[in-house]
Amino acid sequence: MDNAFHRLTSEHCDLVIRTQPFAEIVYFGPHLQHFSAQDCQSLLRPVANGKLDVDAPLTLAAELGRGLFGSPGIEGHRNGLDASPVFSTRQVEQNGHSLLITSEDTQAGLRLISEIQLSGSGVLQIRHGLRNLRAEPWQVDRLAVTLPVADRAREVMAFHGRWIREFQPHRVTLDHDSFVIENRRGRTSHEHFPALIAGSHGFSEQQGEVWGVHLGWSGNHRLRCEVKTDGRRYLQAEALYLAGEMALAEGATLWTPWLYASYSASGLNGMSQQFHRFLRDEIVRFPDNKARPVHLNTWEGIYFQHDPDYIMQMASRAAELGVERFIIDDGWFRGRHHDRAALGDWYLDTTKYPNGLTPVIDHVKSLGMEFGIWVEPEMINPDSDLFRAHPDWVLKLPGYEQATMRYQWLLDLSNPQVYDYLLERMSWLLGEHAIDYVKWDMNRELVQAGHEGKAAADAQTRHYYRLLDELNRRYPHIEFESCASGGGRIDYEVLKRCHRFWASDNNDALERNTIQRGMSYFFPLEVMGAHIGNRHCHATFRQHSIEFRGLTALFGHMGIELDPIKADAAEGSGYQRYVQLYKQWRPLLHSGDFWRVDMPDSTMQVQGVVSRDKAAALFLVSQLAMPDYSLAGNLRFPGLEPGARYQVSIADHPDIQVVGKGGHTMRQLPPWMNEGIELSGEWLAQAGLALPVLDPESAILISVKRI
Ligand code: GLA
Repeated sequence: MDNAFHRLTSEHCDLVIRTQPFAEIVYFGPHLQHFSAQDCQSLLRPVANGKLDVDAPLTLAAELGRGLFGSPGIEGHRNGLDASPVFSTRQVEQNGHSLLITSEDTQAGLRLISEIQLSGSGVLQIRHGLRNLRAEPWQVDRLAVTLPVADRAREVMAFHGRWIREFQPHRVTLDHDSFVIENRRGRTSHEHFPALIAGSHGFSEQQGEVWGVHLGWSGNHRLRCEVKTDGRRYLQAEALYLAGEMALAEGATLWTPWLYASYSASGLNGMSQQFHRFLRDEIVRFPDNKARPVHLNTWEGIYFQHDPDYIMQMASRAAELGVERFIIDDGWFRGRHHDRAALGDWYLDTTKYPNGLTPVIDHVKSLGMEFGIWVEPEMINPDSDLFRAHPDWVLKLPGYEQATMRYQWLLDLSNPQVYDYLLERMSWLLGEHAIDYVKWDMNRELVQAGHEGKAAADAQTRHYYRLLDELNRRYPHIEFESCASGGGRIDYEVLKRCHRFWASDNNDALERNTIQRGMSYFFPLEVMGAHIGNRHCHATFRQHSIEFRGLTALFGHMGIELDPIKADAAEGSGYQRYVQLYKQWRPLLHSGDFWRVDMPDSTMQVQGVVSRDKAAALFLVSQLAMPDYSLAGNLRFPGLEPGARYQVSIADHPDIQVVGKGGHTMRQLPPWMNEGIELSGEWLAQAGLALPVLDPESAILISVKRI
């Protein structure tokens, strides 16, 4: 019986799974120092009265046929038959930190292959492969990964959002039934980021137990947190299939996306730090491992007005500001003068660029910068040469008139001619020009996604991965950014083939504080595109100081998104200052442990990064709205070495004046702000540092260095 229990272990958490006669996770919680498989006997349940006469396990496959009565992990049929599979373990292979469990239902003719891995960072990965063992196709309606969590995980946190307002967290207390997220938009979506966090009562950034999951998939999905009527709880995640979309032929295997899970005993920060470490160790691959270069992206500077001479002037000015990568956004290809035409026509617009792109690229490179370009390959405008030549290349169901979105439709990537055309055009662009970087956009949702009359949303996502994989293989030095009207395609699977996300089309520093904080739960700063935008934000028409914009963009992968030629002297020197500050701090920001600090006043948001060796840290205090209290209280710094002494000083702040000298919030600054102060890590953590009273929509930056 003992060898029926397997344990995967890591520094922070362990997973214990029973594997015979079926697979059932019995423990996912804190790391166990004294584990004995014998002890697992303690978890054998009673059989309740008024229920089935046998125990109903919450298995890996979560089969309804075992009497689960909850949301099954598998649903489907073979022409109405074989519709209630029950799997028994056939083979178990443990290889260090990974486990491969093969189960079968010979009655239904199905095999389930479950892969489970626990990384050193403490992130658990699970996926299933379902294989059809019979001649007739098995119609898959649902195939999910199910992860039981402790019954003390009573609160659920998820994210809502929309265009220009991504990653907004919200919470519910769940004692009965389900909390469900469903996404049918065909991309990861702004609206339903595929993640759920369940935690103990009142869990916060720094306290409580949390179990967080993310589904690595850039298409339709469903995530659920369910409380069974017997009190057991679980998280469940799956790719969501449209009717009839997934028929499994004989011998074929359908793999679920990977589910990534993290347990933390120290609140949301512990969870995020594990996810960040995992991404750094196992998912993100930067060519040459180079520092994240400062961008200048032309979009909000010139939109579709492309004049190569002017663009070269912009590049010269950008280089003076310290920019390291110059990106030409939308508007460079044939007939693209506005957003109503030309998507699909991936040829240079020679009316705008009569001498080709090369003179611009050469100029950018002569200034010591990398060159990047924008594309949106999956799309087609009805007003395009491509559509006039191939009206049948659109992703749609015949006989219906499909609505456009931003005046565009999708191309059907399941059609090999479409795929080949895009591969050829992208290879022309990337192979025949000295391009270092591609901003790959995707500006519409999938409606009636069809190929040869059948639903094809899932296939569309897989072909998108295939296309990008092939381009990565052909051009391994090129970095890709995933953009979908801002943050509409942000997830771990796309990050295996991209190097950065455009977090939002909203460059308003106030909104960005919330969006970037929301994104930080699952993503580290180095993949979070964060730009200094125009003083008058184009998305909200708000105005912010250069200090607030600069400091907000510092906590990410920094760029500038405007026309630097039009900026006045004060703005220009501001860009220069924050680019310089970013270059100074990026080694720390892009490698250290990220902390969100619990603050008593919710109008104030504090985040920081502490180096892995705890020798240095940088904290950003952002005052988002009018402070609740007339004093700002003390900031207690997490993550430092208690026994070490640190020099704490202001690294950047707005033009704070005291009353009488033009200010109005303070008669006197906290004295440490004048010359800095030396304190122990313990004192900083337990007693803290008095903060200045800040105006709404302003921020200060505090540096901490071990003496
Ligand atoms: C989308 C992107 C923007 C910009 C435009 C160009 O909206 O999110 O950043 O690239 O497309 O059309």
